[in-house]
Amino acid sequence: MGPLKNDTPVKHEGKLLFIDACIRGDQSRTRGIALPVVAALSNRYDVETIDLTTMDIAPLSPKAYAERTEGNIPEWALEAARKIAQADRIVIAAPFWDMSFPAVLKAFFEQTSLFGVTFEDNGRKCVGLCKCKKVLYITTRGMDIPTGDPREQGTPYIKALSCLWGLGEVETIAAWNMDYLSPEKIEEKISKAVVEGIRLAKTF
Ligand SMILES: Cc1cc2nc3c(=O)[nH]c(=O)nc-3n(C[C@H](O)[C@H](O)[C@H](O)COP(=O)(O)O)c2cc1C
Repeated sequence: MGPLKNDTPVKHEGKLLFIDACIRGDQSRTRGIALPVVAALSNRYDVETIDLTTMDIAPLSPKAYAERTEGNIPEWALEAARKIAQADRIVIAAPFWDMSFPAVLKAFFEQTSLFGVTFEDNGRKCVGLCKCKKVLYITTRGMDIPTGDPREQGTPYIKALSCLWGLGEVETIAAWNMDYLSPEKIEEKISKAVVEGIRLAKTF
């Protein structure tokens, strides 16, 4: 038998987009949880990563806004928006900053929230255009703020964005109080979150 044309195994469950906004890179506790969870998910999905820490993403300036209004959209943003629209699952990893997530992630959403790609409207309301059915949001928080606390503005924002873009159900995996615990306790919390994520990866 001749060599296989393509020896990359096909993951029949579809495409997973991993959006990594872990600014502290390899020092990041959030990334420390996300990487093994995404590795577990790679058994079922073809994973593509968009690493925001290596991109120079700016919020829309008056000039960029005017250009976009004329249909002049940066190539990278259009490409990323199309990947979002075509993904079956999305994982977002971002530390808890200033009671939500780093501004680069908001700027990324702003740049990729494109009419006709991630959403449109039907004359009465906005309608999502994304294929995604589930989003997993992974974060770690310095203060003792559990998911669902009104001071926690990461999960509600991602849920709202899911309504606009049509991303489906949003699940959050978080570890908190991370800036006020012993190194052993921090490690324990990270390990617990990894176990929770790997368990969830089986049905995600
Ligand atoms: C710029 C910055 C802003 C932060 N803002 C908050 C905050 O508002 N609330 C909070 O609980 N922790 C805050 N933290 C602490 C981080 O959430 C915490 O250390 C987290 O574990 C960092 O995640 P990482 O290791 O993935 O970078 C902040 C940390 C940084 C560097």
